[in-house]
Parts: sequence; structure tokens; C-alpha cells
Amino acid sequence: MHQSLAIALAAFSLAACQPVLQAEAGPVPAVAAAPWVLSGPARAGYDLSEALCSGCHATKAGEISPNPMSPTFPMIANSAGLTQETLAEYLRDSHNYPETMNFEVAQEDSDVLAAYIITLRSDDYTPPIQ
Ligand code: HEC
Repeated sequence: MHQSLAIALAAFSLAACQPVLQAEAGPVPAVAAAPWVLSGPARAGYDLSEALCSGCHATKAGEISPNPMSPTFPMIANSAGLTQETLAEYLRDSHNYPETMNFEVAQEDSDVLAAYIITLRSDDYTPPIQ
């Protein structure tokens, strides 16, 4: 009798602990797909963003941008109204770029970059506390 009460209490306190641990860890970043399981254009876009963009932008969920002025890719992906098409179009025209992004991206590169970045879009995205 006493023993099963102890077990029940142990189980209860374990369950009760869980929300507290999650609260301490903060909101769990939305991970649409781990980049290394991607294939095709999205994978090519991920590889390219590692090479071209990761010096300034966080390119994966749960990262902080090395350049604090640069929005993370999940932030960009979750901008209101953004689609893969509007993002690819934006990247195609370097006149849109902030001054610090003084480079150009070829059309096929802007397409695969947009294909990757859009994988970071998620319905339950919550912006990180900066
Ligand atoms: C030298 C640093 C740097 C590099 C490299 C860089 N960015 Fe940026 N990027 C920035 C900064 C800084 C901003 C924010 C500018 C602002 O808010 O005015 C930005 C903003 C953006 C935005 C959002 C623009 C908007 O108006 O919301 C997109 C999209 C973007 N970058 C994509 C990329 C992609 C894709 C790459 C790689 C091909 C890249 N960036 C490489 C610094 C960089």
C-alpha cells in the first residue's frame, strides 16, 4: 500500500516536473526539417547558404546570427506574407539588399536559397527573445 503510493507519487512528481523544465529552456525552436535530411533544391540551397550567408545570418533553427544585425533565416522564413516565390524574387535583385550584403546571387542560386529558407517556415514559429 505504502509502496504503491510512493510509486504513484514518484510518477506524479516526474510528470509535474516536465512543464517546469520546458519553461526554463524557453520556447522550443520550430524545426521544420533538419537541413541534413533535405534533398534536391532545398539541400543545394542549404549548402549554398552555409557558404554565402552563414557568416552573418543564423541559417538553421535554434541558432543566433553571428552578425546581430542580421535576421535569422527562420525569422525571414516566417515573415508575414512571404512565399518561396517572393523570396526568390527578392534574392534575384541585389538592389533590394541591405548595404552590407554587397554581392549578387545568380538566378538558379536564388531559387535554391529560397527553396531552403522556406523549409524553415512553421505555423507555430515563435521569434526568439533577443
Ligand atoms: C555581410 C553580412 C551578410 C551576409 C553575408 C548576408 N546577409 Fe542577408 N542581411 C544582412 C543584414 C545586416 C540584414 C538586415 C538588414 C536590415 O535589416 O536592414 C540582412 C537581411 C537579409 C534579408 C531580409 C531583408 C528584409 O528586408 O527583411 C534576407 C532575405 C537576407 N538577408 C538573405 C541573405 C542570403 C540568402 C544571404 C546569402 C546568400 C545573405 N543574406 C548574406 C547581412 C548579411
